[in-house]
Amino acid sequence: MKTRIAEKFSTLFATEGEFFASAGRINLIGEHTDYNGGYVFPGAIDKGIMAEIALNGTDKVRAFSLDMDEYVEFGLNEEDKPHQSWACYIFGVCRETIKRGGKVAGFNTVFAGDVPLGAGLSSSAALESTFAYAINELNANGIDKFELAKIGQSTEHNYCGVKCGIMDQFASCFGKEGSLIRLNCKTLEYKYFPFNPEGYRLVLVDSCVKHELASSAYNKRRQSCENAAAAIRKNHPEVEFLSDAKRLWLDEVREEIPQEDFLRAEYVIGEVQRVLDVCDALERGDYETVGEMMYQTHFGLSKLYEVSCEELDFLNKLARKMDVTGSRVMGGGFGGCTINLVKAELYQDFVDTAIQKFTERFGHAPKIYDVVISDGARKLQ
Ligand code: GLA
Repeated sequence: MKTRIAEKFSTLFATEGEFFASAGRINLIGEHTDYNGGYVFPGAIDKGIMAEIALNGTDKVRAFSLDMDEYVEFGLNEEDKPHQSWACYIFGVCRETIKRGGKVAGFNTVFAGDVPLGAGLSSSAALESTFAYAINELNANGIDKFELAKIGQSTEHNYCGVKCGIMDQFASCFGKEGSLIRLNCKTLEYKYFPFNPEGYRLVLVDSCVKHELASSAYNKRRQSCENAAAAIRKNHPEVEFLSDAKRLWLDEVREEIPQEDFLRAEYVIGEVQRVLDVCDALERGDYETVGEMMYQTHFGLSKLYEVSCEELDFLNKLARKMDVTGSRVMGGGFGGCTINLVKAELYQDFVDTAIQKFTERFGHAPKIYDVVISDGARKLQ
């Protein structure tokens, strides 16, 4: 990938730049908890975005996406927003840096990636954090890593229409080889957990389906959670986020909120606790409990939060039937991958069977990705 980028960069701009990269992410458990002030447990992966960048002495950005085979040039004022959605991510990162008092000089860039799009692996966070990191370095802005993650998150909110939480951008900025990171999304305290489950493997099965309107459905889930939190807050003013609420407190407002909001909140409150249970289990080396929690999360995401789909439920059921230790839909949902914790000796059989049965049922093959937990945003030598 580096060679292809360098060749294109030199053809387009007749100079050389510096290389930066960042990563997509997995999340072991803690889904849809981030915007509720709860815990998440992600890690960066060995699939990401790489960019060559050089300042160009103008106030314009000239960007080429190798994967889209498309060139875009844009200015740095609010009205200069480009039409191409991939370019909006870069534009948004520039604007959000400026809004925080950072300097953004014009630059040339060529970039490419290998995070599968729409698989729930946060290709967009990888793109945002590559550029947030690079722009910070090239302009010597001295913005800290948390703020870089927030620049990515605000880009989604203000330029891409997704009211996401902080998990994806956090993981791609803070990712560390071999470690998952438990983040408290309310206090922003985090802890690295070395993850090397001996005798087990983590594997993603990508359904290769992506449902339209995922971002409006996502925003709607978030709204339901805020409604439930607001109702609970009337009785318990200390509830800032839904994750602060006890299950009993939710029951108190059952009659006051729509059934749909109740179910969403029921899932979130359970999920916040599951992340803590999984961390405890990991410290004991108890992977059976980790796996069981993953199945519970899947149930909640499918039946209460309603962000699964037929294809993902099928993969989950198949995993259960084959005695896979843990399995669940990962990321925002509405398509994408399941993440599976599987005993090493069962791995090949599970993967082969999943491909065969899924193809028989849905007419196309799923994709299989082995998870390698890797570093997040960085400058390459
Ligand atoms: C998407 C969002 C994240 C998070 C997950 C669900 O990936 O970008 O902020 O909410 O969905 O856990």
